[in-house]
Amino acid sequence: MNVLVAGGAGFIGSAYVRHRLAAHPDATVRVLDKLTYAGRVENLRGLDPERVELVEGDIADTEVVKPALEGCEAIVNFAAETHVDRSITSPGEFIQTDVYGTFVLLEAARDAGIRHLQVSTDEVYGSIVDGSFTETSPLDPSSPYSASKAGGDLMVGAYRNTHDVDALIVRASNNYGPRQYPEKLIPLCILNALAGDPLPVYGDGMQVRNWLWVDDSASAIDTVLEFGRAGEVYNVGGPDELPNIEVVRRVLELTGRDESLIEHVTDRLGHDRRYSLASAKTEALGWRADVRFDDGIERTVEWYRENEWWWKPIRSGEYRAYYERQYGSALG
Ligand code: NAD
Ligand code: TYD
Repeated sequence: MNVLVAGGAGFIGSAYVRHRLAAHPDATVRVLDKLTYAGRVENLRGLDPERVELVEGDIADTEVVKPALEGCEAIVNFAAETHVDRSITSPGEFIQTDVYGTFVLLEAARDAGIRHLQVSTDEVYGSIVDGSFTETSPLDPSSPYSASKAGGDLMVGAYRNTHDVDALIVRASNNYGPRQYPEKLIPLCILNALAGDPLPVYGDGMQVRNWLWVDDSASAIDTVLEFGRAGEVYNVGGPDELPNIEVVRRVLELTGRDESLIEHVTDRLGHDRRYSLASAKTEALGWRADVRFDDGIERTVEWYRENEWWWKPIRSGEYRAYYERQYGSALG
């Protein structure tokens, strides 16, 4: 099967492309990616050019999507603006890509009569004090990012109900691992710790996230693509929940730094206190998370240590200006 992987040059999308090629020896992939600041050609480096094709373009542009879809038997949509903090300061692009772009892809899937798998997030459910969200929990997004993702999910449901499109949704918890853009907590803290810069912790740092190793996420998405039922939602949570401050402490230990680098900064607006997902429905399809946080965080720190070529250009480019705007301080 030839799959169109929208957003395949990003963090999870590129892990998915690698997983897809390894798990299905006959599979080919066409990546459609706008190559925003978060999309990077080097994320696909080393993959067999006979099996992976990259088309640069916007999922919100019908003229781009139609030809890109030719010969594809399914769409897996990772393409999105993804960073909550950026959605607070400039939400427009989130609505354009995450809602309107999803609509354009759904129209194309409908025309072509093919499956559309939407990659979504636990953040659409909002925050939970105790217990875990199931697929029937109500949507209650807090940020412009999660509201845009919820809008995309609702459009997927509408295309299923109205036009009988073979559409379904995966909602994953916080992913971590190699090739994550360093605006997100874990890679930001690893790179700052390696450089001896402060690690910014929002508020008291007691917000809890459910951490999922990126390759486990990729295998879950592929399992749902292969075996999931049209019209259904599948939650994919990681095996470990940790408060942010513990994640930061683990990074400090692994980089040989002490806690004096921790800097509590002004909390994020509308900050969700805790996310937690129940994944029994996805597990019933035969999926299991393999990697526990203690192991995954060690591998992640190791990857950033060994791949300075990947992050050095990021840390000296657009990211530097973003960092100063967001944190009001400069990187060392
Ligand atoms: P990312 O920011 O690393 O990558 C997003 C990719 O989408 C980039 O390659 C970017 O260039 C591309 N893109 C953005 N706008 C586009 C457009 N208009 N047209 C085509 N391509 C476009 O994101 P990620 O962390 O890999 O997340 C991938 C998907 O998974 C997103 O839909 C996100 O909402 C979802 N998700 C992420 C997490 C997480 O922890 N990172 C958790 C759950 C769900
Ligand atoms: P993030 O990686 O942005 O993912 P998400 O907001 O999608 O969960 O943030 C993870 C957690 O870390 C979240 O509770 C916000 C917090 N955080 C900080 O404390 N400091 C930071 O500099 C960043 C980027 C995030």
